[in-house]
Amino acid sequence: MDDYILSCQDLTVSFKDSEPPVLRGLTLGVRENEFLVILGPGQCGKTVFLNCLAGLQLPTEGAVYYRHNKVVGPGRERGVVFQKYALFPWQTVLGNVAWGLKSQGVSKEKRRAIALKYIQLVGLSGFENAYPQTLSGGMKQRVGLARAYATGPKVLLMDEPFGALDAQTRYAMENELLILWEKEKRTVIFVTNNIEEAVFLGDRVILMSARPGRIKIEREILIPHPRSYTDPTFLALRQEISAETDLAL
Ligand SMILES: Nc1ncnc2c1ncn2[C@@H]1O[C@H](COP(=O)(O)OP(=O)(O)OP(=O)(O)O)[C@@H](O)[C@H]1O
Ligand SMILES: [Mg+2]
Repeated sequence: MDDYILSCQDLTVSFKDSEPPVLRGLTLGVRENEFLVILGPGQCGKTVFLNCLAGLQLPTEGAVYYRHNKVVGPGRERGVVFQKYALFPWQTVLGNVAWGLKSQGVSKEKRRAIALKYIQLVGLSGFENAYPQTLSGGMKQRVGLARAYATGPKVLLMDEPFGALDAQTRYAMENELLILWEKEKRTVIFVTNNIEEAVFLGDRVILMSARPGRIKIEREILIPHPRSYTDPTFLALRQEISAETDLAL
């Protein structure tokens, strides 16, 4: 696992001995600055897998490594964008984005400057003092992205960040995320149950099976950006991955 920034080896997660494991024998290596998509049907264990990579869930067997170090908990080098917005309702956009920097001991002035930079990068300038409940779903997820980027993680773990958005907003956010990824190169691990979204975003797509979640197939997506949903290569890949996808439970 030498060249990988994040990897896992024979990862298995069981919650009850009487039931099949949620994840079984996952081995995966993620390259630095790669945009890796984890695709799988509902309930196949995507969130559990991402939580293991984040260090929020410990595996029953196997291990996760950040470079050469075994992951035993959350770490500053791994930032998470959650499936639900998970913003603090009592804090403004600025407060939410700056939040993680406080625990890193960054000065107030510097926190503000860093937060403002990412608020601008996600297109939320002018909303610094707004509270989450006054924002649309797309805007809340922009705050989630800015908050994750602001603490300067090397790896961003994103759990279906656009899953709750309408189709138009989702397309817009996918494009903006790619622009952000070009500007601020980081390793991104992006979870989705949407095949189109996976082929649109990923350098590589890992398809998981239904429970127990395993890696079923893996495809490199070599189509240059900006990608078109109607490009024949795009459609062929979409079709190929679709044919391999298990039904949601
Ligand atoms: N702490 C837990 N205790 C027991 N079972 C759990 C726990 N966390 C997750 N599970 C089970 O693991 C399975 C996979 O859950 P997970 O949330 O990872 O699925 P998912 O692929 O993210 O689904 P979705 O697409 O709906 O987000 C589910 O059956 C869930 O009930
Ligand atoms: Mg999930």
